[in-house]
Parts: sequence; C-alpha cells; structure tokens
Amino acid sequence: MTSPTRIDVALDERSYPIFVEDALIERAGEMLASFARDARVVVISDEQVWHAQGERFMDGLARTQLTCEPIILPPGEPTKSWPVLTALIDRLLALGVERKDHVVAFGGGVIGDLVGFAAAIVNRGCGFVQIPTTLLAQVDSSVGGKTAINVSAGKNLVGAFHQPSAVLIDPTCLDTLPLREVRAGYAEVVKYGLLGDADFFAWCEANGEALLQGDSAARHHAIETSVTAKAAIVGEDERETKGARALLNLGHTFGHALEAETGFSDRLLHGEAVAAGMALAFDFSAARGLCSPAEAERVRKHLADMGFRTSLAEIGIVADGKRLTEHMLHDKKKSGGRVPFILARGIGEAFVDKSVELSEVERFLDGCV
Ligand SMILES: NC(=O)c1ccc[n+]([C@@H]2O[C@H](COP(=O)([O-])OP(=O)(O)OC[C@H]3O[C@@H](n4cnc5c(N)ncnc54)[C@H](O)[C@@H]3O)[C@@H](O)[C@H]2O)c1
Ligand SMILES: [Zn+2]
Repeated sequence: MTSPTRIDVALDERSYPIFVEDALIERAGEMLASFARDARVVVISDEQVWHAQGERFMDGLARTQLTCEPIILPPGEPTKSWPVLTALIDRLLALGVERKDHVVAFGGGVIGDLVGFAAAIVNRGCGFVQIPTTLLAQVDSSVGGKTAINVSAGKNLVGAFHQPSAVLIDPTCLDTLPLREVRAGYAEVVKYGLLGDADFFAWCEANGEALLQGDSAARHHAIETSVTAKAAIVGEDERETKGARALLNLGHTFGHALEAETGFSDRLLHGEAVAAGMALAFDFSAARGLCSPAEAERVRKHLADMGFRTSLAEIGIVADGKRLTEHMLHDKKKSGGRVPFILARGIGEAFVDKSVELSEVERFLDGCV
C-alpha cells in the first residue's frame, strides 16, 4: 500500500482537493459525508463501471449509513449526448437536486464530462464530486473543470467550465480496467513528462511497464505527478486564455487528425492517437531543427516499447498530408484559420507555436510512413 496523497487545485473560491489513495472508494461514505444532504448521495455511473466497482462503492457508503440513488447510464462515447443529458437533468430534478447539493460522477471521462456539464446547468449549477475510474480520467479529465457533450458538429463542442468540489482518485479501480484502456490513459501520463518534466519522462521509461502491469507504487507515483502538473497548469490558466493550459494539447492536434481519419472509432482510442500524435509532434520539431532527431527517436522508442502504434502505416492510415491537415483545420482549437501547434525544443521543453503554416505540416505528413 502506498501512502495517501492530497494535491490542491488553487483557484481562489473554486479551489478543491484531489485525494489519491489505494482503496479510497471503500471509504466513499466518509469522504462524501460532507457533500450529502439528508444522508443521501446521488451517484451517476455507467453500466460497466457499476458492474466492476459499484459494489465496493456501495459498501463504502453503507459503512457510514449514507444511502445512494445510483443513476446508471450506458457506457461509451454516445452517452455524452443531448438526449442522455436531458434525461439525466430530468432525473436529477425529479430527485429534488438543488443548487447547494452535490452529485457524484463515478466513471471514466465520459461520465465525468457529462455529469460535470449536467451539474453546471441543473438549477443554474449544483456541486459535483469526481471519482474517476480510468487512468485517463484519473490523470487528466477529472481535474480542471472542462465539461462537455458531443454534438453533430463535433466532439466536446457544447459544455462549460465547472470545477468539481473534490476529486477522489482510487488507483485500485484500475484493477478492472482493460489493459488497452490503461495503456491509452498512459499516453496522457507520458505527455506530462514530454511537455515539461524530463526527469518524469525518464521515470516513465524505467517504470512504464510496471505501471501497465498494475504495480501499485508506479501507478500512485504516475497519478500523483500527473495530477500535480495538471493542477499547477489549471491554477495558472483555468480557461485556457494565457497559453499554459494549451501545452496540455501536446500530441493532440496530430492525434486529432488521426482520430478523425479513423472515424473516432475503436480502431484508435483517444490516448492511442495522442501517443502517435506526440511521436509526430517530436518528429516535426526535429524536422524543423528545434530538437535533436535522437530525442524524437527516444520518444518514439518509449511509446513503441509500451505497445503503442507510432507510425501511420501501423495505424493503417495513408500519409496524405492534405487530408490530415484538413482534419486539423476542423479542430475546435483553430483560431483565425491558424492551428496552434505544441512543439518541443527537447524532452520536457514544449511550447505553443501559433505561426506554423499548415502547408509545412502537409509536406511533413506526406513524407511520413
Ligand atoms: N474534460 C477534460 O478535460 C477531458 C480531458 C480528456 C478527455 N476527456 C473526455 O474523456 C472521454 C474519454 O474518457 P475515458 O477514456 O475515461 O473513457 P470512458 O469513460 O468511455 O471509459 C472507457 C471504458 O472503460 C470502462 N470503465 C471505466 N472505468 C472502469 C473500471 N474501473 N473498470 C472497468 N471498466 C471501466 C467504461 O465503462 C468504458 O467502457 C472522452 O469523451 C474525452 O472527450 C475530457
Ligand atoms: Zn487527451
């Protein structure tokens, strides 16, 4: 067992704690008591999470005599939609959820994003607590207050900034998460090393495999380091207006093109696209003479060693620069026709470059394999 950790997101009156602790959900009652009204907790989860972890959570509540109103939704990305959102809001109102109340998001990024958005708008906003159950949600989506659903025009295009009141991270929830999903979340872990912490990248090289195999100390260290990095960035740039938060998009612009090209399907999970996207961002940085080819190669090697597909050919995508850059233009982060790129001067030295011409990226991608 590793020792519990508390990390704080410093946002004045919207500040909140993040707790990282093995078997924390078995103490859910104690942790949620201050957020419950009339000893009742409204928890929203998905069928798969509830099947895998619901009993532990309910047992954790029962110890403190809290009762629970579980709302269990279908798993998967289509749950982040208008129809599910409106049904969820109706349900919360029928349960009498008021502005001062808290609801609990117990699941991966899909549940966190949907419940966070519902909490942002029901009764003009109620509180919510995140209990993330995927590695991606534990190191990324549960922290920072971005909430959203998908609409026909694109992913995450309707949402709100709404910070949770607390984030409860139990790394042992990952015991039941399929390895492919753990690996996809690991891409976001590596991202923190690549964008600003070379020592942490070296730690990933030495410990990544243990983490994927479920080693408790490795898991805890990776989550704690990632969340600390994200909390600092969010504290500095809550609404992505100052540039710091944009660094979190390392690998995401290239990755988005790959996700779009594979139809946002199981062919390529988000984290898998980010892994390949980070390899491409480093190759592109090397091609521009910003970082050494040896460093770009080191990045690719680690990702490949961890089981990621890092080339377009492995993913099954044709190196068609025009098609791929067109996907980038549709990315919501575009501003005035320009796509901001996160490039790197080396491992741990990422920066935002808003001056990259898409034609240059197109030529670069044409030459990729
Ligand atoms: N808000 C943000 O800042 C932010 C950041 C990154 C990603 N996201 C969003 O996060 C979503 C992806 O999140 P995700 O990767 O967690 O996917 P997810 O929520 O769909 O979870 C992946 C799968 O794992 C299952 N699962 C979750 N926890 C489990 C567990 N402990 N045991 C067994 N099965 C479990 C789920 O049922 C689901 O089938 C996307 O919609 C993305 O847009 C948001
Ligand atoms: Zn991501």
